[in-house]
Amino acid sequence: MSLDLSGRTVVVTGAARGIGRSIADRLAAAGAKVVLWGRRQSAVAEAALDRGGGGVILQNASIAAGGVDGPYTHYSASKAGLLAVMRSMAVELAPFGIRVNAVSPGYTRTQMTTQNVTTEQAVSMSTSFARVPLRRLVEPSEVADAFVFLASDAASAITGTNLVVDGGLTANLYIMETLA
Ligand SMILES: NC(=O)c1ccc[n+]([C@@H]2O[C@H](COP(=O)([O-])OP(=O)(O)OC[C@H]3O[C@@H](n4cnc5c(N)ncnc54)[C@H](OP(=O)(O)O)[C@@H]3O)[C@@H](O)[C@H]2O)c1
Repeated sequence: MSLDLSGRTVVVTGAARGIGRSIADRLAAAGAKVVLWGRRQSAVAEAALDRGGGGVILQNASIAAGGVDGPYTHYSASKAGLLAVMRSMAVELAPFGIRVNAVSPGYTRTQMTTQNVTTEQAVSMSTSFARVPLRRLVEPSEVADAFVFLASDAASAITGTNLVVDGGLTANLYIMETLA
């Protein structure tokens, strides 16, 4: 299975920090030419997909697309909508050899997560996250690895898919534990 991305050009949006930055690092390590796109970048570059050679479009969705956690209607709706867009794009762009997929992270160790919890909660999420079967936060590099896989030829037949990277959170209904 080859995850070599040599000769590929990849645009990463939101690349200044967090998951986007980790994705850019991992793609570069896999040999891709990475174009960083962010509002704090001093220069904005353009890259065009070679229509003849196909391409890959990957979207960063969220487990929030499939469930509710707090008063974030706008966030859940936008992520669910993003998955619908992803599936439509996958179907419409398939004739051009372009694959379209999404990655849905669970709770990941970035500023977005840490700025919304207390220090105690942050420690708990890192060490004993009861709600998550793997009992910890997801690392940005682990989300990035899913992007590298989907961008590579190892995923050449995969399009229209949402790859969940959540430490098992959404597989766990967490009902029995709450009865104790
Ligand atoms: N962290 C999680 O637990 C988690 C879970 C599921 C999904 N996600 C998704 O993963 C993606 C990245 O999240 P993250 O955790 O890496 O967040 P983060 O650490 O807060 O980084 C967010 C990135 O997005 C950029 N950004 C924010 N608002 C923007 C805007 N209006 N226009 C352009 N760029 C903007 C930021 O740019 P600046 O540096 O310029 O501010 C930054 O580079 C998001 O789509 C999020 O919904 C995250």
